Amino acid sequence: MGIDFKGRSFISLSDMNKEEILYLMEKSGEVKAGKHKGLLSGKTVATLFFEPSTRTRLSFESAVLQQGGQIFGFSSSASSSTQKGESLTDTIKTVTGYCDAIVMRHKIEGAARRASQVADVPIINAGDGANQHPTQTFLDIFTMMEKKGSIDGKTIGLMGDLKYGRTTHSLLVALSFFDVRLAFISPQELKMPEHYTDFLKTKGIEFMEWDVLDEKAGDLDFLYCTRIQKERFFDPMEYERVKGSYILDKESIQLLGDSTYIMHPLPRVDEIAEEIDEDERAIYFEQAHNGVPVRQALLGLALGTIR
Ligand code: CP
Repeated sequence: MGIDFKGRSFISLSDMNKEEILYLMEKSGEVKAGKHKGLLSGKTVATLFFEPSTRTRLSFESAVLQQGGQIFGFSSSASSSTQKGESLTDTIKTVTGYCDAIVMRHKIEGAARRASQVADVPIINAGDGANQHPTQTFLDIFTMMEKKGSIDGKTIGLMGDLKYGRTTHSLLVALSFFDVRLAFISPQELKMPEHYTDFLKTKGIEFMEWDVLDEKAGDLDFLYCTRIQKERFFDPMEYERVKGSYILDKESIQLLGDSTYIMHPLPRVDEIAEEIDEDERAIYFEQAHNGVPVRQALLGLALGTIR
């Protein structure tokens, strides 16, 4: 018996439960294996990207086109009527009449939720400020399960900008549904916000906070790195001070275990040296490529073409 996602928006991991996440993972696996061909045939998807993107926008485009659907949109607010002062809600009330689903990225936290309140079609949050990035999390969980079979029982390190990084915030909420141990590795200025660590305490999830990557990293199943995001800093001097912290290179990855996979939502700047791309534990490009089947499955479920 499947779970009915038809007509549903995907705004936050907080709106989901473990069974729903696992069901989406199961359907993503089926899509990746070649089942459900043409699942978006006759469907039209709009991409409204008020912030820059390479992977999320283009993998949605690839996902839709490969499954027989049509996709259109804008890739910056500068090329939309937002530039003339149009409100987000007016934009959504307009575009909802042009498509079957809207994929949206916006710099303001809560923008996707607001959009879902005025849209007649499912809204897929492709990132809202420092808040959530659910489809990134789905492909992260899918990649972890592909590599290690299950999430339960795993120890996962999140490293880098844990304060502003929406990918780690989404992932933390998703991981809280499982039996995991977490390690947060960041400079003091970029620590995981207290409301997330308080949330983990209420869920009984064990977490550790490390100032630096050290030999304890040998026990990690996954090390999930993130970019120190310049655009999230109010003070550019502060960015310059911390940007070089937490770099993975040939020397520092010797701290990792033989089966510690290195993940990253990308883009990277200098936090992962290119010299380790060929290491078999470095799976960030494989992770990015999983965005296509996972986003196909998500759209298929939201549009009711797979169950
Ligand atoms: N991971 C991710 O969201 O990448 P983009 O910003 O390129 O979409």
